[in-house]
Amino acid sequence: MANQDDNLLKKIIAHAKEYGFIFPSSEIYDGLAAAYDYGQNGVELKNNLKSFWWKAMVQMNENIVGLDASIFMHPTTWKASGHVDAFNDPMVDNKDSKKRYRADVLIEDHIAKIEGKINKEVDKAAKRFGDSFDKEQYLATNGRVLGYQSEIDSINERMKNAIESDNLADLKTLIEDLGIADPVSGSKNWTDVRQFNLMFSTELGSVADGASKIYLRPETAQGIFVNFLNVQKTGRMKIPFGIAQIGKAFRNEIIARQFIFRMREFEQMEMQFFVKPGDEMQWYEHWKNTRIGWHKLLGLGEENYRFHDHLNLAHYANAACDIEFNFPMGFKELEGIHSRTDFDLKAHEEHSGKKLQFFDPQENKSYVPYVIETSIGLDRLFLAVLTAAFTEETLTDGSERTVMKIPAAIAPTKVAVLPLLKKDGLPEKAREILDELKLDFNCTYDEKDAIGKRYRRQDAVGTPYCVTVDHQTLEDNTVTIRDRDNLQQERINISELHARVSDLVSVTSLLKKI
Ligand code: GAP
Repeated sequence: MANQDDNLLKKIIAHAKEYGFIFPSSEIYDGLAAAYDYGQNGVELKNNLKSFWWKAMVQMNENIVGLDASIFMHPTTWKASGHVDAFNDPMVDNKDSKKRYRADVLIEDHIAKIEGKINKEVDKAAKRFGDSFDKEQYLATNGRVLGYQSEIDSINERMKNAIESDNLADLKTLIEDLGIADPVSGSKNWTDVRQFNLMFSTELGSVADGASKIYLRPETAQGIFVNFLNVQKTGRMKIPFGIAQIGKAFRNEIIARQFIFRMREFEQMEMQFFVKPGDEMQWYEHWKNTRIGWHKLLGLGEENYRFHDHLNLAHYANAACDIEFNFPMGFKELEGIHSRTDFDLKAHEEHSGKKLQFFDPQENKSYVPYVIETSIGLDRLFLAVLTAAFTEETLTDGSERTVMKIPAAIAPTKVAVLPLLKKDGLPEKAREILDELKLDFNCTYDEKDAIGKRYRRQDAVGTPYCVTVDHQTLEDNTVTIRDRDNLQQERINISELHARVSDLVSVTSLLKKI
């Protein structure tokens, strides 16, 4: 994994643009904040990520099926889900810098600083005590650490109470009591805290016809809930079962920043798993384990993941956690796993007047199922891949390269076929090989520039294998295959090439480990 530093995100953004992964939206008009377009390599990588998720979640599970619901939904959907009344962020403005912040994020950042002090104490003690250091015991007994921890607990408690009782004045007092300053200007001159709804709205129909206000969905989940019975009945699904969906979601994020981490238009991959009431904690644990296992299989480095349990639960949840990834900005939410109780189905029953229940033949009764949700942002997953893959290295010959070490199974292009020279029949032979491989793998052909330069181009877009056709190929039907990461080149017969590539880039071998 690349080193964490302030410049890393900037470098990734520049690289993503230069090599056709991500462009700012409508750039010729100076762009649009928090909207991005995926370029020729970006779209391939994104599709591979979707496919890996879909295969693991739908294809590999007999009791999970897919759905593709519309973005526009009846406006009552969002009243029932609580989004009209409660999908708000508590915002506070700094009067001097004119910057706007989420009040809870300012407080959480303050807590993170105290956590940093605890970590420093632990590091110091670990050095002092060496091998005999017992971290658990130290955390439970050291006076200074306990002091910091109780400070954190008390802040968390005050924040939770203020948010749960919707007491925005208390939230402001907490910011002032903690002496939190604007990270940009250092000023402590804050406005009152106000709620800001995050849903985008638009008009359905023309004004003359009596237009009605509708929303762009802020999550894909509600499309699944309102289709619960349609899928259950037509698919003859038995509890427990799941419905999975990939699609766009829209949020009018106040502070949209950090590249594709927080966008106003983004893509979610969500799965709602319907269970018998009372079984939800067992399934919550199951999905926590399954999802972290899936992430680790992807090959971005196990050390880059951690769980974060929610203290402030959303209005619909009785347990929730995030899977966090070590982004260039530090550990941040990548995926949410939520035990949503029967909140959504019950709310839709109330607002629609339709029953959304499952008849359990074993229990001989109907009930509203409980729901465990797994919800991952595809764009954040994309950023996780870029973060883990982006590598600047000096090779043994002293030369430098920037290489995207994207796991082969999800790399945008699997193989580049390169004739050593643009003459002597080498291009023709290379194209023959390409024609054979391209039926099964996304391949590219390149004959321009010296071979070293062409290898670097493929390194920069993360192509895991380069197949080079040279004069020996014409004599004995062999080619060299170059490994992007270790730079080893092996000469193999063309007849073995397809099977070899298939082995190296196969998603199947990952899925078999699930
Ligand atoms: N249905 C539940 C739900 O939407 P969430 O925690 O608000 O839960 C789920 O969002 C995931 O969607 C997050 O873990 C994150 O990966 C992604 N996500 C949320 N807001 C986003 C944004 N503005 N830009 C990019 N991804 C976002």
